[in-house]
Amino acid sequence: LDNGLALKPTMGWLHWERFMCNVDCDKDPDNCISERLYMQMADVMVKEGWKDAGYEYICIDDCWPSRQRDAKGRLQAHPKRFPGGIKKLADYIHSKGLKLGIYADVGKNTCAGYPGSLGYYETDAQTFADWGVDLLKFDGCFMEWKLLGEGYVNMSKALNKTGANILYSCEWPLYEWPFRQPNYTAIRETCNHWRNYADVFDSWNSVKSILQWTASHQDIIVPAAGPGGWNDPDMLDIGNFGLSHVQEESQMALWAIMAAPLLMSNDLRDICPRSKELLQNSHIIAINQDPLGKQGYRTATEDHFEVWERPLSQNRLAIAVMNKMEIGGRREFFIRETPSWKICSPQCNVTQILPQYKEMGLQTPQSDLVVSVSPSGTALLTVTPIRDFTSFHKL
Ligand code: DGJ
Repeated sequence: LDNGLALKPTMGWLHWERFMCNVDCDKDPDNCISERLYMQMADVMVKEGWKDAGYEYICIDDCWPSRQRDAKGRLQAHPKRFPGGIKKLADYIHSKGLKLGIYADVGKNTCAGYPGSLGYYETDAQTFADWGVDLLKFDGCFMEWKLLGEGYVNMSKALNKTGANILYSCEWPLYEWPFRQPNYTAIRETCNHWRNYADVFDSWNSVKSILQWTASHQDIIVPAAGPGGWNDPDMLDIGNFGLSHVQEESQMALWAIMAAPLLMSNDLRDICPRSKELLQNSHIIAINQDPLGKQGYRTATEDHFEVWERPLSQNRLAIAVMNKMEIGGRREFFIRETPSWKICSPQCNVTQILPQYKEMGLQTPQSDLVVSVSPSGTALLTVTPIRDFTSFHKL
């Protein structure tokens, strides 16, 4: 969507995967969907280096509103859980130099049964603008699939009409795929990012199935991505319960290759140092945020390895090598076997970012460079071609 937003993949935090629809603030005040949760996340975001690392949006998902609209037909935050209201929460988040995201649904109800926006697009867009909201995640439950496109387009127009700068995150293709192949040109014109596939869960199987879906639809979805519009493979689970550390590294590396929004869904108040360090790794974030804005592809599968490559600015390249063999120990992979290795001709500089940062120095197309990759782990490298000054001088 050409609204000047999301020129690079969005970075922030989104409550759903970790906190879901926990509305029991009597029993579980620290983890329920309430203004406190977002305020605490905002505090930690600033104090613990998240904001400095680039994470900016704090996003509310489902289950924030009251079951009823107000007398003027407007959505209202649940009065017990958000006693200050969303406007005050947005002010608080802004005072920390961060941005606030909110959630609504294109259909009659949200997936969890709260009021949907069908019939209220202009009202809701205006309400969000009045509150100072910076991002809208627009879900697709309880909507006839044939009307999805129209609904998402109309909300996009309604947001634009408010004159506010609201980043627009869609789930249009996810809900349309069961019926037909979505029109990605229209989606890109309408949304700043869009979910294509099932919700991420806190498990390696879930992360693998998202990667598998992405690779098997890459010819359709990758060309749609670029500054202003991105494919959204869903939240980062890093720092939760279900992924081992090497699997966390795989998710982080592949989300960088996919130019994916980096929306963490975890408890920043309580996260282990290794997960934190990985999420704040500036080299991986730089790949994700590369100004060229091209999404990477899976370029090879061989011998239980997957190779993914992403073209970067200044003719550089990011390479991820994932070890899909989930038995045994580390296995070695020859980097010269990656499909785009010709970019190292006549010479290149290679940096390994995962599993550890290592300058690998000058290489040639014939180099015996190997990476050693743990089961379900990923090696991540960048390759910088070196101009051939000898032939340059001959010109
Ligand atoms: C389905 C979406 O795909 C999820 O990300 C989440 O927003 C839930 N709905 C909330 O009900």
